[in-house]
Amino acid sequence: MFTPDTLHGKSILITGGGSGLGLAMAKHFAAHGANVAICGRTEEKLRNAAAEITTVKQPHTLVLTHSVDVRDYDAVGVMIQRLIREFGSLEGLVNNAAGNFLAPSEDLSPNGFKSVVDIVLHGTFNCTQHVGKYFITQQRQGSILNIVTTYTETGSAFVLPSACAKAGVYALTTTLAYEWGVYGIRVNAIAPGPFPTEGAWSRLMPTQEIQDKYVKKVALRRVGKHEELANLAVFLMSDLASYITGECVTIDGGERLAGGEFNLFATEFDRASLKQMFYAMKPKK
Ligand code: HXC
Repeated sequence: MFTPDTLHGKSILITGGGSGLGLAMAKHFAAHGANVAICGRTEEKLRNAAAEITTVKQPHTLVLTHSVDVRDYDAVGVMIQRLIREFGSLEGLVNNAAGNFLAPSEDLSPNGFKSVVDIVLHGTFNCTQHVGKYFITQQRQGSILNIVTTYTETGSAFVLPSACAKAGVYALTTTLAYEWGVYGIRVNAIAPGPFPTEGAWSRLMPTQEIQDKYVKKVALRRVGKHEELANLAVFLMSDLASYITGECVTIDGGERLAGGEFNLFATEFDRASLKQMFYAMKPKK
């Protein structure tokens, strides 16, 4: 279905593109002809990721990195202006940067709640508004893709800040798809199920036993391959999807049909053991 120039002529920014699913998407975009920019908080991670992307990218395409915290509105603005200058234009944004951890909601500190909501919801707004203003003023028919979760609509136990923030990102997706449709801007979302990454799984899967139980809840009885998600992202960012907007595509092997993603913790363990387990996963200051 795709060719090496499926994304030719598009420059795309992927937030949190230095690792995990963000990097998988960035590599796939570059392999299909896009210029890609990745941003994140850790410069070294971005440098290593850029080297990986370079090994698969099409000739004559560019790879840029920019170190930024998406929570910082002004710094995001500076980044967007730099990318437009260096690429010559910008056609796409993937809001992938996220934060998440397991915690009983009654034990969450206000700052813990705020950190996740700031990264996921405010970070998405910050990037989307800067890019959207550019698309509108320059009359570019760009595309925005937001990474949400399978619990956006159902919620899920023990990930309250993420569930709230991702529900907000879904609302942003449908709201702007309609509001900015008149400018030819498409806004879509992907809801990925279990795609193992170091960042997410170290924070969300306490033990191998739990992982195994979790995978048994997936209708297809396996986790996803990064390439499966990246293919969907290429499609949605490409002109093949030019009449799709306001859509959220779930790619989860049927996992959502079993109920809230982390609800199994509530039914499989007593609260005291859960608290112990989550506390052991919490970074020590
Ligand atoms: C309870 C925790 C905690 C934990 C952090 N906090 N980890 N509370 N349990 N495990 C609290 C801290 O105590 C602190 O509150 C507050 O959160 C901020 O923590 P910091 O480390 O100071 O903040 P920061 O460096 O900004 O880190 C943000 C973060 C961190 C979200 C907490 O985990 C992070 O950087 N994550 C980025 C990567 C990531 O999470 N990837 C997974 C995304 S997966 P106090 O009150 O002590 O100051 C995803 C999709 C899931 O979202 C889909 C399912 C598969």
